[in-house]
Order: sequence, then structure tokens, then C-alpha cells
Amino acid sequence: MHSKIEVTAPAKINLTLDIKGKRADGYHELETVMQQIDLLDRITIELTSEGSISVDSNSSFIPHDKENLACQAAALFLDKYGCEEGVRIFIEKSIPIGAGLAGGSSDAAAVLWGLNRLLDCKLEEQDLLNLGAQIGSDVPFCLLGGSALARGRGELLQPLKHSVPLLLLLVKPDFQVSTAEVYKQFNLAQVERFPDTRAFLESWRKCDIIGIAAHMENVLESVSIKIFPEIALIKEKLKKLGALNALMSGSGPSVFAVFTDRVLALKAMENMRTSYREVFLVSSYEK
Ligand code: C5P
Repeated sequence: MHSKIEVTAPAKINLTLDIKGKRADGYHELETVMQQIDLLDRITIELTSEGSISVDSNSSFIPHDKENLACQAAALFLDKYGCEEGVRIFIEKSIPIGAGLAGGSSDAAAVLWGLNRLLDCKLEEQDLLNLGAQIGSDVPFCLLGGSALARGRGELLQPLKHSVPLLLLLVKPDFQVSTAEVYKQFNLAQVERFPDTRAFLESWRKCDIIGIAAHMENVLESVSIKIFPEIALIKEKLKKLGALNALMSGSGPSVFAVFTDRVLALKAMENMRTSYREVFLVSSYEK
């Protein structure tokens, strides 16, 4: 058995995000197309004999204690499977924090996956997905990876076959939003544009990039743009710079734009970097 493993944790974006209603448990019933992108955290997991869990990182902006979802994932895994070992986790953070990109959830998913390998537990994918759902709504998708249609809290997943590869310019403005706060303020009556998920999936199946871009919508923009109007300005600017379309990811504030021309995308990146520190040219990531 190895005592150390290195795993990658890709970010995700929501190509569509619809809310069907509020549930009795306080969560919202979602219908969302999720896509991994090749913006990755790198995680080293090491077994130790001390029986404790420690988290360290190159970033001082993430918690290094039980608040960290990767730490929660390790605790849950070790507890559930009665492991005596301790774990030392190092997170090399590249995914912006509080950004709507599931960075923390992806780290947690990578730790579950990594510990399963490291401890040779041979858990089935469904067992890992169930554990992931206990940590956060986005964790099951991060475990599954690729592209998927998610329903329920986000844990009911239907994998999607590969479609056209996406070239995306991602902009994270210099503020964070609280996911819980955005959902709390969500009011169906204030949504002006809902995604047509069926039409989106039809374009997806046909590898029709124009249709895919045209059908991207996120109902949470109705809340986050009201709090931070700058999100709408970023979307507009990206479209002016040649993107087919631009959308906020998750509860925001990150915005991604779909480009078909790499030269145009690189120029747009240069332009956006004059105003924003965190600008990334990325692609859809397939497992
Ligand atoms: O599941 P997770 O802890 O990542 O969710 C963060 C917050 O987002 C929850 O506390 C909840 O307020 C909100 N949420 C929701 N409906 C979902 C997913 C998240 O209301 N489907």
C-alpha cells in the first residue's frame, strides 16, 4: 500500500442553472448542466501514523481547519471506514475562492477519491457519491466529473456524452459572494430569463456551439447581479470582445465566456487582465 498520492481537483461551471422550487429541507430543487474545466487544484494526500487530519495550502485565503471541505471529507471517510490512520493534506490552490467554481467541493471530492485509492478501500462510485453528498451539493458532480445534468440538490446526476470542446474565458472579479445568501435571497418572481434546458441539451447532442452558447442561462444571476451589478458589466464586456455568450457560474461572481476563435479569446484575455487579476483561458475538461 502506498502512503502518498497526488490528485487533481478541477473547477466546474454551470452552463445552465434553473431552480424549480424550494424544498422542505430548505434546499432548492435544481436543474443544472455542470461542466468541469481544466483549471485545477493539486492535492497531495499522505497517510500518517498520528491519527489526526491536517490541512496546509499555498493559499492563506482558505481555512486550514474543519471548515475546509477537504478536511471534512477526510474525517468522514476515515470515520466511516474505521481507519486508524491520520492524514496530511496539502492543497496547491489555483481555483479562485468563493467564486461559484466549486473549488472547495472539488478538493473534497479529490480527497474522497484519493483516500479510497490510498487505503485500497475499493468503494464503488455510488458509495463515494453518497459520501460526497453529505459534504456538499456540488461534491457528487465533482466526483463524477466531465459533464452532467444535475437535479435535486445537485446530487442526482445524469452524465452527458462529450459534445463540442469549449474554449472559455473565465473572469473572477475581486469580490466573493456567499452561496447560502444568494439562495436565501432567491425569488422566483424576480427571474426574467429561465434556461430552456431541453433546447440546451438538444444543441449539446448536436455539438452545435451556437445553440449551446445561445441557451446558457442562470437564474441565480437575478440575485447576484442585484448585489453586484459589476457581474452584468463583465458579461457585456466579454460579449463586446467577441464571445458568443457569457454567463455567471453557480451563485457567482465568476463569469465565463464562450469563444470559438483562440486569437480573439487571447486578445479578450489581455484586455480583461487590465481590469481583473483573476482571468483564465480554459477548456472543458473530460475525464
Ligand atoms: O450544499 P452546500 O453546503 O454546498 O450548499 C451551500 C448553501 O447553498 C446551502 O446552505 C443552501 O443554503 C444553498 N443551496 C440551496 N439549494 C441547493 C444547493 C445549495 O439552497 N440545491
